[in-house]
Amino acid sequence: MNKALSIFIGVLMSTTAFAQSDPNLGIIPAPVSITRANGNFVLDKTTILINQSIDGAKINDLLNAFIVTKAGFALREAKVAQPNQKSILLTSSGADKLPAEGYTIKVTPNQVVITGSGAGLFYAVQSVMQMMPAKVADKIPIPAVTINDYPRFSYRGTMLDVSRHFFPISFIKKYIDQLAYYKINTFHWHLTDDQGWRLEIKKYPKLTTVGAVRNGSIIGHYPGTGNYLTEVKGFYTQDEAKEIVKYAAERYITVIPEIELPGHASAAIAAYPALSAFPDRDTFVNEKTAWAGSRKGKQVQQTWGVFDDIFVPSENTFTVLNDILDEVIAIFPSKYIHIGGDEAPKTYWKESPFCQALMKEKGLKDEHELQSYFIQRIEKHVNGKGRSIIGWDEILEGGLAPNATVMSWRGEDGGIAAAQQNHDVIMTPGSMGLYIDHQQSDSPDEPVTIGGLAPYQKIYAYDPIPKVLTADQRKYIKGVQANMWTEYIKTTNKVENHAFPRLMALSEIAWSPVDRKDLKNFAEDRLPVHLARLDKMGVNFWVPTPIGQSEKVLNGGDFTIDLKVPVTGGKIYYSLDSSRPSENAFLYTSPIKVTVPKGEKRALRTIVIAPSGKRSVTTETILNNGAPEVKAEAKK
Ligand code: ACM
Repeated sequence: MNKALSIFIGVLMSTTAFAQSDPNLGIIPAPVSITRANGNFVLDKTTILINQSIDGAKINDLLNAFIVTKAGFALREAKVAQPNQKSILLTSSGADKLPAEGYTIKVTPNQVVITGSGAGLFYAVQSVMQMMPAKVADKIPIPAVTINDYPRFSYRGTMLDVSRHFFPISFIKKYIDQLAYYKINTFHWHLTDDQGWRLEIKKYPKLTTVGAVRNGSIIGHYPGTGNYLTEVKGFYTQDEAKEIVKYAAERYITVIPEIELPGHASAAIAAYPALSAFPDRDTFVNEKTAWAGSRKGKQVQQTWGVFDDIFVPSENTFTVLNDILDEVIAIFPSKYIHIGGDEAPKTYWKESPFCQALMKEKGLKDEHELQSYFIQRIEKHVNGKGRSIIGWDEILEGGLAPNATVMSWRGEDGGIAAAQQNHDVIMTPGSMGLYIDHQQSDSPDEPVTIGGLAPYQKIYAYDPIPKVLTADQRKYIKGVQANMWTEYIKTTNKVENHAFPRLMALSEIAWSPVDRKDLKNFAEDRLPVHLARLDKMGVNFWVPTPIGQSEKVLNGGDFTIDLKVPVTGGKIYYSLDSSRPSENAFLYTSPIKVTVPKGEKRALRTIVIAPSGKRSVTTETILNNGAPEVKAEAKK
């Protein structure tokens, strides 16, 4: 290469996919270890692809499809390299000695050796794709490096609620593609709830003809200002669900179906009222919202929350639920079947003569024990089919079913208690940022959400292993999950807005060792590149506010505000006159110098606009030089 070209490549490389100084080479989640060496492997048209792995041609296709989009050419596949021929080698030799899902990548000037099998090789290729900078004159310079990598947790999950709002199969696939890219290996599909039953069950067709249709939804935040009398409906056929299972499995993602019981069951009860503890009671008997539609009979719920109606623990109910679970088990090959178990009010069971007689007969001292009886009956059936149940932490109440795994959502206490009882645990505490239906900032620009504040930094700060557990008990913490409930999420765009960048933070706490966590590197070096990629791919995301901007009041007279753009290729615009910034405001190009006269204050307001035009919320910093009012000004 002549000197001019090498300088040219050097200049361009500094603006390519990731900063060469980034110790993690742009990879999310951060690998266990990265050791840089001198030099680069320069991928070009002469590079060949050799696959000696046990994983067949699919992995070649994955890598080559990426190289085509990146470089504009595909690598020629060959069995061996000629002397001095540059190659990318995929191999499973030695992979049996790697940790589960682990891989290694070794880049030298002449060869890239990618070692792994199954999920490990797949993840290695995700990492290679992430560390490849943009091409320069038809060449891609990959830094010489050795990477050893494997996950901290075997369960790295995310839950999507499709009951409150329904999202089509095409979107579920698009979402799964992103999960795979971030090495998330579990998709928990919340298929049933009070507001809609979303899976075809052949033996009980009314579950979808009746249970998948809601005649309206509240307007605005609960309790709402009225009712959109717009039908919300939709369900997945069994063939579609199988298609998702297959699609996910090809990306090393397990789909765990959730069938809610004994509460959150209004949609099933609307379809089959005999499943209720009070079949003749109208659904809206206890409903406090004024706008509800028809008040007669059983209805699929049109508002959000927790409802008294609940499955009756009768033999008929167990027969129906077992039949349903048999069909579910035939569709989903996952070890776990999620049976819900959360927020099941005991009011109807207390009032029901049948339930009280059953408790007496079975020697159950309260309704919590009746719930435990209910869950244990279900567990026995599911275990009989070779599967295990997983449930929300309320399944601890009244006694945990013998083989159950607990999903700890009401803080960490349920997970701690379960681990202390030697039960497996998935940590997903809402209080620690894992509820990604919560708001991402305090700005009034945020869309309506259920409430709560869970910026991605909060997820990033979370360690799923509670310190109070002993070394032995810690082994029961199998992983971590983020949950997206969709009461207030009606569109696929909004699902994506809530998901990203929070799922990237989840991926890092689920995969990377604690001592590899580095929020500054994550937020400032890697996220901007990853968000720009989503932007280009047509995946929506929450545009972060400018890096370095304080939301607290800054005191002084002379200020220099140094900001960084949080999305590569994006722009920051700002105002100093209290107007709401847009692309008509000042473009940020270098640190902003502001002098505030004594006794006065100024409001610096910013907005970030990504290359596609997506916008951040407005962020305000008050610059105060001794003015009496120091409270943040009312935002417009
Ligand atoms: C839950 O959020 N009700 C599990």
